[in-house]
Amino acid sequence: MVFILLGPPGVGKGTQASQLIDSFGGEHISTGDLLREACRNQTGLGLKAQKYMNDGDLVPDSLILDLIRDHLGSIDPKAKILFDGFPRTIPQADGLDDVLLNVSRRVDKVVLFEAPEHELIKRLSGRRSCANCGTIFNVYFSPPKIEDECERCGEVLVHRSDDNPDTVRHRLRVYQSQTAQLVEHYSSHSAVLKRVSAMHSVDEVQSAFRAAIGMD
Ligand code: AP5
Repeated sequence: MVFILLGPPGVGKGTQASQLIDSFGGEHISTGDLLREACRNQTGLGLKAQKYMNDGDLVPDSLILDLIRDHLGSIDPKAKILFDGFPRTIPQADGLDDVLLNVSRRVDKVVLFEAPEHELIKRLSGRRSCANCGTIFNVYFSPPKIEDECERCGEVLVHRSDDNPDTVRHRLRVYQSQTAQLVEHYSSHSAVLKRVSAMHSVDEVQSAFRAAIGMD
């Protein structure tokens, strides 16, 4: 099975993917996480991607598709896959179809998470993440027991540099201008798109997510 988690910055894609993956038993592929790792390790990709990410712009499609091809080459070709934050443009969606076709696979479901902009801005301004294990917290909705400390591994929590108010507003505009068209793309190309309201608790959204992909 190949699932895509689609939705604006801060809607909860990473949170929902992490919660599902324990029981799903597949691969959670977040292009944002892979890019941040490349930036931390100062790889060739990281050095090219850093400025786009700092500015809240999309990293060029060619770099993203190379990253995806490399990553898919390193995992079990039959693994169940949850794509989080990919694809983000029509060329990326087309590129993904080609890559999957080569291994006789296809996108099974696209889940669109939805929430109003004021909620996205609050979620992103309150987000704190563990750079070590990736666990996501929120100072408003799900604070860690000890301030700025990861409950899972004890590392210091960070506020992502692209979660500052100006960059968040830019990322939301980029989503509307370059990514939102994927909703139409997936609605018209196949009957795979499911909508899930993200305006509920994490557990309630998880239940709706599972129902949308037939895992309830
Ligand atoms: P990426 O890391 O993918 O960022 P994003 O899509 O902007 O998504 P976020 O990670 O900000 O949000 P999310 O939906 O995962 O929310 P989360 O679960 O954390 O990309 C970063 C950058 O990398 C891009 O700007 C671009 O430069 C580049 N990039 C990445 N992929 C690319 C691609 N394919 N093409 C080109 N460039 C690419 O939740 C947010 C907060 O809300 C958390 O604090 C969480 O605790 C809280 N929360 C979650 N759910 C709930 C709930 N139900 N109620 C209350 N709080 C909640």
